[in-house]
Amino acid sequence: MRVSILYPFSCLLSAALVSGEASEAACDELASVLPNSTFYPEAPTYNASISSYPFLQLRLHPSCIVRPNSPHDVATALSILKDSNCTKFAVKGGGHNANAGFNNVEDGVTIDMQSLNHVEVALGDEVVRVGAGSLWQDVYDVAEKRNLTAMGGRIGVVGTAGFLTGGGISFFSPEHGWSCDAVVNFEVVLSSGKIVNANATSNPDLFAALKGGQFNFGIVTRFDLKAYPATTLWGGRTVYHPNATESLLTAYTNFKMGEFDPYAAGWVTVRYNHTAATFSPISIMWYTKPAQKPGALKQIMDVKPQLMDGKVEAPISEHTRNASRQVVADPERTIWTTTSFSISPRIMHRIHKLWADLVPEVSKQYAYAKPIAELTFQALPGPPRNGSSPNSFGFTADETPEKDLIFLQIIFTFTDAAATEGFEEALKDFLKLIEGVSKEEGVLHRYKYLNFAASFQDPFSSYGGDQKETLKKVARKYDPQGVFQLQVSKGFKLF
Ligand SMILES: Cc1cc2nc3c(=O)[nH]c(=O)nc-3n(C[C@H](O)[C@H](O)[C@H](O)COP(=O)(O)OP(=O)(O)OC[C@H]3O[C@@H](n4cnc5c(N)ncnc54)[C@H](O)[C@@H]3O)c2cc1C
Ligand SMILES: *[C@@H]1O[C@H](CO)[C@@H](O)[C@H](O)[C@H]1NC(C)=O
Ligand SMILES: *[C@@H]1O[C@H](CO)[C@@H](O)[C@H](O)[C@H]1NC(C)=O
Ligand SMILES: *[C@@H]1O[C@H](CO)[C@@H](O)[C@H](O)[C@H]1NC(C)=O
Ligand SMILES: *[C@@H]1O[C@H](CO)[C@@H](O)[C@H](O)[C@H]1NC(C)=O
Ligand SMILES: *[C@@H]1O[C@H](CO)[C@@H](O)[C@H](O)[C@H]1NC(C)=O
Ligand SMILES: *[C@@H]1O[C@H](CO)[C@@H](O)[C@H](O)[C@H]1NC(C)=O
Ligand SMILES: *[C@@H]1O[C@H](CO)[C@@H](O)[C@H](O)[C@H]1NC(C)=O
Ligand SMILES: *[C@@H]1O[C@H](CO)[C@@H](O)[C@H](O)[C@H]1NC(C)=O
Ligand SMILES: *[C@@H]1O[C@H](CO)[C@@H](O)[C@H](O)[C@H]1NC(C)=O
Repeated sequence: MRVSILYPFSCLLSAALVSGEASEAACDELASVLPNSTFYPEAPTYNASISSYPFLQLRLHPSCIVRPNSPHDVATALSILKDSNCTKFAVKGGGHNANAGFNNVEDGVTIDMQSLNHVEVALGDEVVRVGAGSLWQDVYDVAEKRNLTAMGGRIGVVGTAGFLTGGGISFFSPEHGWSCDAVVNFEVVLSSGKIVNANATSNPDLFAALKGGQFNFGIVTRFDLKAYPATTLWGGRTVYHPNATESLLTAYTNFKMGEFDPYAAGWVTVRYNHTAATFSPISIMWYTKPAQKPGALKQIMDVKPQLMDGKVEAPISEHTRNASRQVVADPERTIWTTTSFSISPRIMHRIHKLWADLVPEVSKQYAYAKPIAELTFQALPGPPRNGSSPNSFGFTADETPEKDLIFLQIIFTFTDAAATEGFEEALKDFLKLIEGVSKEEGVLHRYKYLNFAASFQDPFSSYGGDQKETLKKVARKYDPQGVFQLQVSKGFKLF
């Protein structure tokens, strides 16, 4: 209701028209104007696009897929969709957000950005220009040829666009902060069809909003990222014996509570495999100054007994390429959720115990779906400091979330769609219990990292201060008709 008051032209009013018919008409019009970029279900390109989603729940079937080749194509597609009787549409970057419907749509139109994947080093090696359909592997491969790198993802197959507009945690985040804060310019197509830049001096309100506000203002077509000198990284995956779990949690707690080391990055996970009935503690950590390794990672690397030690020193692109192999191997279904807390001596142990006591029971109910459950503890980056441009997360420059805070990823991965609702309910219960324990311990924190939030969460309300109100104002200013609120039906919305 609030939406129709805010936006006089309301797709809510014409809900009856929102049907397959509207999207078929829109597809015909798209096909007539962008004949080489519009694909129907019979086309091999359509199938390839659907198959490129890494998780099965994301493989919805739109009436057609548009693959723009330029920002101008994006503007053309948007202008058709805007006047299309409220046809639902979605935008796909790398397609790695796990929430069904965020990056694809059933019956509507999906704009797949994958052809906008040009990466180049520009401005005297100061900037890496990244097409919004690029994956991080593309970025690292191009930049390293020039002895440069960027603040990107730690697994190569992940997309740049969702990652950067949701925040982005990089190998270098302990030292340099959020990846989105390394963006010096966004090129954006607005719902008016206008192509604009958002940077520190031009549209600064949009610049801040795109750093954490994701898909509520326009379609980003290019990111200009600050370039950093390429380095090698030392680190990777270590798998420990199950009876090392408590020692690993203690080591990570001590790592977080000890002196801050800006070169130590990564996470620890406990994985439960229901089919094997085993818990497996794992660390995936890197040191970005290999000459000084292992720094503060020492206590984590010393945890014994270890079953596998995959730590090596190698270029970033090699780490990210190897990590991709684990993801693409065997697509399944997955649901993620997240919450945050401040570190304290006991909190990781308490949360882990809660989870480990419940997870076999929940998994048993859906044993047919061969569940894997994961509980991951990971550090959050710090805010922009020294007068640099703000993002939308609402941390002040004197706060130190990089030292104090941990966020959780609580995940179920499974093979059978029939278990989806059960696992979603289980995650809601876990969240309630975990946040209860955190509150009791006095360490619960408001922040929910958008890129790992479940569709039933509201990351914008978790941002500090009046950030959500600010984001709403920016959305109204740059998208006055509410196209991205009303026609993009899924994704984290503001209204
Ligand atoms: C294997 C794996 C590893 C990961 N590693 C990391 C990590 O190291 N650090 C980290 O911080 N996160 C990580 N993530 C989380 C990651 O940041 C999110 O999954 C993110 O959504 C990926 O971006 P994408 O472009 O692939 O997403 P998509 O699913 O394509 O998009 C996500 C959202 O952004 C919107 N969007 C996409 N393109 C655009 C655009 N051009 N303009 C406006 N909106 C757009 C979509 O509509 C959607 O709502 C990882 C995820 C996976 C699956
Ligand atoms: C579509 O592709 C054909 C064949 O490659 C080309 O001749 C034509 O100009 C293209 N049309 C558009 C609108 O780009
Ligand atoms: C496309 O996918 C459908 C269903 O997934 C399949 O039946 C069909 O053979 C595929 N077509 C092509 C051209 O790959
Ligand atoms: C919108 O729907 C109306 C009623 O069905 C139809 O007359 C009109 O042609 C449609 N417009 C577009 C752009 O599809
Ligand atoms: C790459 O950068 C490193 C570190 O700045 C430097 O030592 C090295 O000489 C450079 N290599 C090339 C090929 O430029
Ligand atoms: C910011 O946008 C303006 C206007 O488009 C542009 O001239 C300028 O080069 C941009 N700045 C950066 C750092 O990209
Ligand atoms: C852990 O397991 C290893 C190997 O099975 C064993 O040697 C060790 O004694 C165990 N440690 C504890 C504390 O149980
Ligand atoms: C889980 O355990 C089963 C049975 O041992 C095994 O086949 C499977 O590969 C395991 N899955 C993962 C992700 O470890
Ligand atoms: C990547 O995998 C190859 C082959 O298994 C291995 O030799 C190499 O050390 C790995 N590198 C990294 C960074 O994991
Ligand atoms: C901010 O400035 C201080 C003092 O010059 C410096 O030590 C610090 O590294 C800077 N922080 C960032 C994030 O640039």
